Amino acid sequence: MCGIVGYIGDNEKKEFLLNGLKELEYRGYDSAGIAVLKDGHISSYRALGKLENLVHKTASFSSDGFGLGMGHTRWATHGKPTEVNAHPHRGEFSYVIHNGIIENYKEIKENLQADGITFLSQTDSEVIVHKFEKFIREGLNAQEAFKSTINMLQGAYAILLITKDEPETIFFAKNAVPLILGQNANGEKFMSSSDSPLIGYATEVVYLEDGEYGWIKKDEISLFIDESPIIPIFQTLGRDKIYAQKDGFRFFMEKEIYEQSTVVSETLMGRVNDENIELDELKEIDFSNIDSIKICACGTSYHSGLAATYLFERLSKIRCSIEIASEFRYKKPLLDKRTLFIVISQSGETADTLEALKMAKKAGMQTLAICNVDNSSIVRLSNATLLTRAGIEKGVASTKAFATQMVTLWLLALYLGQHRKTINNETMQNEIKALLHTPSVLHVNDNTHEKIRRLSKRYLHGHGFFFIGRDIFFPLALEGALKLKEISYLHAEGYPSGEMKHGPIALADSELFTVALMPQNMLYDKTKSNVEELSARDATILVISPKEFDLADDFIKTSNQSHPMNEFFEMMIITQIFALEIAVRLGNDVDMPRNLAKSVTVE
Ligand code: AGP
Repeated sequence: MCGIVGYIGDNEKKEFLLNGLKELEYRGYDSAGIAVLKDGHISSYRALGKLENLVHKTASFSSDGFGLGMGHTRWATHGKPTEVNAHPHRGEFSYVIHNGIIENYKEIKENLQADGITFLSQTDSEVIVHKFEKFIREGLNAQEAFKSTINMLQGAYAILLITKDEPETIFFAKNAVPLILGQNANGEKFMSSSDSPLIGYATEVVYLEDGEYGWIKKDEISLFIDESPIIPIFQTLGRDKIYAQKDGFRFFMEKEIYEQSTVVSETLMGRVNDENIELDELKEIDFSNIDSIKICACGTSYHSGLAATYLFERLSKIRCSIEIASEFRYKKPLLDKRTLFIVISQSGETADTLEALKMAKKAGMQTLAICNVDNSSIVRLSNATLLTRAGIEKGVASTKAFATQMVTLWLLALYLGQHRKTINNETMQNEIKALLHTPSVLHVNDNTHEKIRRLSKRYLHGHGFFFIGRDIFFPLALEGALKLKEISYLHAEGYPSGEMKHGPIALADSELFTVALMPQNMLYDKTKSNVEELSARDATILVISPKEFDLADDFIKTSNQSHPMNEFFEMMIITQIFALEIAVRLGNDVDMPRNLAKSVTVE
């Protein structure tokens, strides 16, 4: 989730750009840069790491007087966090900044390289500026060249491009990631990824829609969709920055639950097409030498890993086990070089997981990180990494990181199955169809949210919760229980449904709340009988299922999905919102719960 700002006007551009990028820091980044076009000259600065490095680099640069500028904070998805990969990216006479993922960048890049174009970065974004300039060299004017370039791109993008060819114009395009245009009574024009950088500058804004593109000058905005001109509809800009950073949600955690559909689309981009899975990041791993998988993680990351063990054995037909990192470290484990060691970590800095990884490396195992932060300690130490591309996760209670870990692990299980020829075409088609359906499953249904908010008032007391499920819904039950514990401070346990009669059912009474995950595509009847046993002992039961269940005290109906993983993600959303709404009613700090840290970098 990179950040973008742009400006056209007479005032100091550097200040607006740097202040704007500071307002976007909450989105997370690993490098930043600006470019300013003034009096026919483009000045560009880029810096790795925190924004103050860029502030330091531009200390002696000033840019008063009419001109235009743009700024970018980068969260690495293609190519390591380095200054060379930082935006803006340049051609001969133009610069571009881009947020999102260009799915077809490889074929565009290969064609440009065949024409003799030299690329300086490893990024997908750089193809935009070179393609634009190629069209200009072929005789198109800047407007036609920009339109032709945008028409070639597949994937998600918010783009700003400046060129000496049109020194009073900023070109823009928006698809699947946010981009806002702003203006004020002084004739200044603004662009941004979100409201907060514009507050105090723009007085009215237009939120671009997918597929819209155009160019903006000091005194005019040309906006198009499908090559047809449209009139931008401006609206008054709000005034609250923190509210804006949360995009109008009450908490970062709530915003991140609603963001899951968008970020999962980015997790999938460039990695799955109609026929197969492509994970170029894995070329360092020699799979011919691998006959089993060992996963190691903590907390929520352990839960996604546990769910993945079912997928690896069922789809990739490879033995897979998982360990809690703090246990693994001290159990003197037997390690085998033919075992692929997978570590899962949102932060990439969790001490126990990092130490487990070091043990695996020392034992000569091939290591793979499933991680959200490029250049983190775990990423740097692993042989290969699959980035989850969730963008920064501000809420201490993990949500979108878990969802993107699950999608990444599902991709990996299918990729391994492809490689080991354990998945027939029909199954692969079904899996890919379900994978590509996931972003729409992750759209939060407002009526469901409101229903959960209403029923949450009945779950504020009692002597605890059981979350129960079978197969991949058992790890989801564990995760649902962890979410509730973390932010409501109420006791909750995740349990395999089939285990209840081995002791826990002794707790069953009307004060025991059971959240039963009852998917129709995974052992429904088995789970149903477990829930009936609890109901017979007067336990209070909240059932989450696509099938009506008359013994439920509360019932949340899910949609009629044909694949268990799509049911998994829909029920995941419900358990996340359930925990959130209970915590809200209890008046807790949802984003920063007591006693917790976002990254546990100590034992
Ligand atoms: C998740 O909601 C928790 N905040 C916590 O369990 C977390 O998942 C765990 O500390 C592991 O963190 P990591 O994914 O950054 O390694």
